[in-house]
Amino acid sequence: MSQIVFDGMSLITPEAVAAELRPQLTVDAAFAPETARAQLALVLQLAEQRFLSGQNLEEATQRINDDLHQIRSQVSPQVWESFVPVVQNHGVTEFLLQDPFTRWSFEKPRGYSGDAQLLDFIYRHSSAQDAIAAASPLGQTLYEITSASQSSAAVRERRDLLTTYVDEVAATHGKDAEILTIAAGHLREADRSIALQSGDLARWVALDQDPLSVGSMVRDFAGTSITPIDGSVSVLLTDTYQLGQFDFVYAAGLYDYLPRKVAVRLTKKCMQMLKPKGMFLFANFAAGIPDDGFMETFMNWSLLLRTEAEMWDIVNASVDRNTVDAQVYYGDNRNIVYATIRKNG
Ligand SMILES: C[S@@+](CC[C@H](N)C(=O)[O-])C[C@H]1O[C@@H](n2cnc3c(N)ncnc32)[C@H](O)[C@@H]1O
Repeated sequence: MSQIVFDGMSLITPEAVAAELRPQLTVDAAFAPETARAQLALVLQLAEQRFLSGQNLEEATQRINDDLHQIRSQVSPQVWESFVPVVQNHGVTEFLLQDPFTRWSFEKPRGYSGDAQLLDFIYRHSSAQDAIAAASPLGQTLYEITSASQSSAAVRERRDLLTTYVDEVAATHGKDAEILTIAAGHLREADRSIALQSGDLARWVALDQDPLSVGSMVRDFAGTSITPIDGSVSVLLTDTYQLGQFDFVYAAGLYDYLPRKVAVRLTKKCMQMLKPKGMFLFANFAAGIPDDGFMETFMNWSLLLRTEAEMWDIVNASVDRNTVDAQVYYGDNRNIVYATIRKNG
């Protein structure tokens, strides 16, 4: 397994997330840790029995998903942090890791959490087909289930929402439209963009720190107005790239990894890169999502989940509200929360 260290911002581990949460700890733990630990042992044992029986896999997966979510919500972040290895070392994990999506997330073959190939499992993209075909029959069934989860559905909705925004920007600005995507991954939202297909964009700059993802964009979008850039948020914050200004700047699947301080710095920077009336959008998985426990344990995928108030806090710390039109809203199933900030002039 390769261990690539980029600029240190994407290497989010359960420990790093817990450290970010620690200072703002307000949870009044409803359960004594020992009671919760006993409950955890019980639900893991029951889940293992269900998977061993091979019956009703969808129900078994849903049950353990719900049980972990519930236990997570009833203990402090520190206690939950201590539960994560308990789940990961339990026999039930062997069943769930047969799902190629869960396994990819857990093993992190690119050396960090939430890489673009992982997102391709969520998008059910053809690039994930070989791994799915190589999985056991149980693994293939589990993939059907996990890729249909609420959080996965929300990520597909996010991709489609971004395509809509891009096409709207092109419709408003015509062939002058300039777009910047930060942490672009494989830029799957471009696949269905009418504006891109019709050549109606002046430029679409797509930045990512992972050379493999940048290579994928170079290959897939050769001959279009898309310019992939191998670059990181930390360098973007220094002005080194000299990218100019844009009508639409956005980051999806990135703020979930950024502590508040970096999120505010990046938001300020993105606002500086906007033309008059330009818009910045950032998305974040929402606090309280039903899949949080499953993701943090079986998938070893910890995110900084944010509330609407925390999204507003980033907005308010980054801009003078008199000079912008800002909104915070949820996607359809409320698993992802979006902030948009439009410059007044
Ligand atoms: C969860 S994926 C999202 C990809 C894409 N935006 C999407 O929604 O499908 C996160 C992406 O952020 C990139 N990334 C993480 N930290 C970064 C950083 N500090 N600078 C640039 N890119 C970063 C990763 O390489 C990865 O491609």
